[in-house]
Amino acid sequence: MSDPVLSCEGLTRHFPSGTALDGLTLDARAGEVLALLGPNGAGKTTTMRLLNGVLSPDAGTATVLGLNPWRQGEELRARTGVLTENAGLDERLTALENLTFVARVRGMDPEAARPRAMELLERFGMAHRADVRVQGFSTGQRKRVALARALLHDPELLFLDEPTSGLDPVATRDVVELIGSLAAEHGRTVVLCTHFLGEAGRLASRMAVLFSGHLHAFGTPEELAGELWSGVEVRLDLGHQADGDLLRTLTGLTHVVQCVPVEQGLLARVTSRDAVPSLVAACVAAGKSVYAAEPRQPSLEDVYFEIEARSARLGPTGDLPGVHR
Ligand SMILES: Nc1ncnc2c1ncn2[C@@H]1O[C@H](COP(=O)(O)OP(=O)(O)OP(=O)(O)O)[C@@H](O)[C@H]1O
Ligand SMILES: [Mg+2]
Repeated sequence: MSDPVLSCEGLTRHFPSGTALDGLTLDARAGEVLALLGPNGAGKTTTMRLLNGVLSPDAGTATVLGLNPWRQGEELRARTGVLTENAGLDERLTALENLTFVARVRGMDPEAARPRAMELLERFGMAHRADVRVQGFSTGQRKRVALARALLHDPELLFLDEPTSGLDPVATRDVVELIGSLAAEHGRTVVLCTHFLGEAGRLASRMAVLFSGHLHAFGTPEELAGELWSGVEVRLDLGHQADGDLLRTLTGLTHVVQCVPVEQGLLARVTSRDAVPSLVAACVAAGKSVYAAEPRQPSLEDVYFEIEARSARLGPTGDLPGVHR
């Protein structure tokens, strides 16, 4: 496996109001989209700022693109693209000037930067407002310009903090596709903060879930699901909701862990796929018609909500999946 593009260990940051991040250890590999998930105030933005070297830690170490983010911050930021939560554009400048200004700071050749800036503004549907001051732009328009700016110098690593919040549905789809292709086709690494779990599910190869500054889970959704739940979930379509008698009969079978009624049937958790035929046979023996039996993979949303529920029960240092303290 390739060396990580980014790794950190024990990253900790306190603010007067409290600890924003407590002992974070994780890594990201080349070409992967790593999703940082967690509720408001969990420490996601703080993590990005620390890893991009714009904020110093109180404890911990990190290596990003082979550099120390706090001692080699400028060198690092010449190779990273950042989209901050509030876009952070200069209000007095036009959309194009916001991009060309950053190009100058990044040491890009102005001759090359201008057409590249126009191409990106075009890409994000903002070419017609290239020469208009940002002051009067809507939230989504600002975000589009800020995304163009983050990509201007073709960075190897992107920190995208809520890239689609405030975007309309078409722009959202476009940005999600773009992030996916930057990683999959162009080998760029993306650290993505988002509250849209569907978006994270589509894009992220691994997810890191933070609560109150603590890492509560880290891994692929499949790995985390495997640690959260044993066995396989199967949905049986019976044409109507399963009744209590049937649920009791099925729960009594050796390989059935749990059965819950759902519209048009039931959801069963069984120890392995091999238990599915006996589950179906037991339904038929009970006089039920089985129209379909589908094993169901938990989605990233299922995994996230389960981690959230367990985190609430176990507290900040509870033993959760994928995090081996
Ligand atoms: N510059 C700062 N000064 C003081 N406190 C801060 C600062 N930045 C972050 N914090 C605090 O650190 C904690 C984590 O904040 P952070 O912005 O990292 O959360 P987040 O996970 O990005 O949340 P959100 O989903 O709302 O964006 C919060 O309690 C916040 O108040
Ligand atoms: Mg944030």
